Amino acid sequence: MRLSNKIALVTGAAGGIGSSTARRFAREGATVILADIDSDGCSRVLDGIIADGGAGTAHGADLSDEAQVVALFTAIRGQYGRLDILVNIAGGDIEPAASVEEIDAERMSRNLDMNLKSCILCCREATKLMKPQAYGRIVNMSSLVYRGSPAQFSYSASKGGIFSFTRSIAIALGASNITANALAPAIIGVDAFPRALGPERWKVMAEATAARYPLGRIGTPDDVASAALFLASDEASFITGQLLEISGGARL
Ligand SMILES: NC(=O)c1ccc[n+]([C@@H]2O[C@H](COP(=O)([O-])OP(=O)(O)OC[C@H]3O[C@@H](n4cnc5c(N)ncnc54)[C@H](O)[C@@H]3O)[C@@H](O)[C@H]2O)c1
Repeated sequence: MRLSNKIALVTGAAGGIGSSTARRFAREGATVILADIDSDGCSRVLDGIIADGGAGTAHGADLSDEAQVVALFTAIRGQYGRLDILVNIAGGDIEPAASVEEIDAERMSRNLDMNLKSCILCCREATKLMKPQAYGRIVNMSSLVYRGSPAQFSYSASKGGIFSFTRSIAIALGASNITANALAPAIIGVDAFPRALGPERWKVMAEATAARYPLGRIGTPDDVASAALFLASDEASFITGQLLEISGGARL
């Protein structure tokens, strides 16, 4: 198993990509700490992991709130005393399809907080555990729209910010044997899409998107979990400050 004896925190663990990643890490031997603002969803994912023979804990927390992030890491320190892997997946876009002129200050701030601020705060707290142990693997969730998007302004800015922040901590933390890398998925088929768009609109959008991608399909949560697993494992011990596009060749 590739993550034997590792303690891994996965944020956004109630969601499509986060739950796949948490399950995958548990199957590879990690003890998984699941965190999400959706605490019921998080507990359901943990129940499934435990039923499959895995181990871990679930924590409800709004990770855009500094006090809740600090409380989460205090609990981790108290229960486990260390943290080997942090995968920051929590996030989303609450302001898609607005025009530039329609950018709303409140929704913009929420997008930046939910994606970028939560990531920075979790990395800060994880560093306090990882530095003394001289070991850490950090994987942050950017998005292919870090390259720019004509419909997702504050979201793409938050994801671009995550990439540059990841490079910065990779430089700062390398001497402590902590790697930091980012994932940049294109469209990944998660339940949140049909929930938000309705099944019919989502089907049309998914098929049109798949037809544009060189590999002829959209991604799956497992495609992203596989990339996270690689970057979190010791196979990637000499890779840091990188952004890995998981895109089926989109936008090549
Ligand atoms: N699905 C895609 O096409 C796609 C593509 C690129 C990047 N991403 C990114 O991948 C990540 C996971 O997205 P997903 O597709 O699995 O969507 P999802 O909505 O299923 O999962 C997102 C999870 O993040 C949690 N979350 C949101 N705000 C939070 C907060 N403040 N504190 C704690 N948890 C919070 C949600 O409750 C949810 O469980 C997101 O960061 C998203 O931006 C997704």
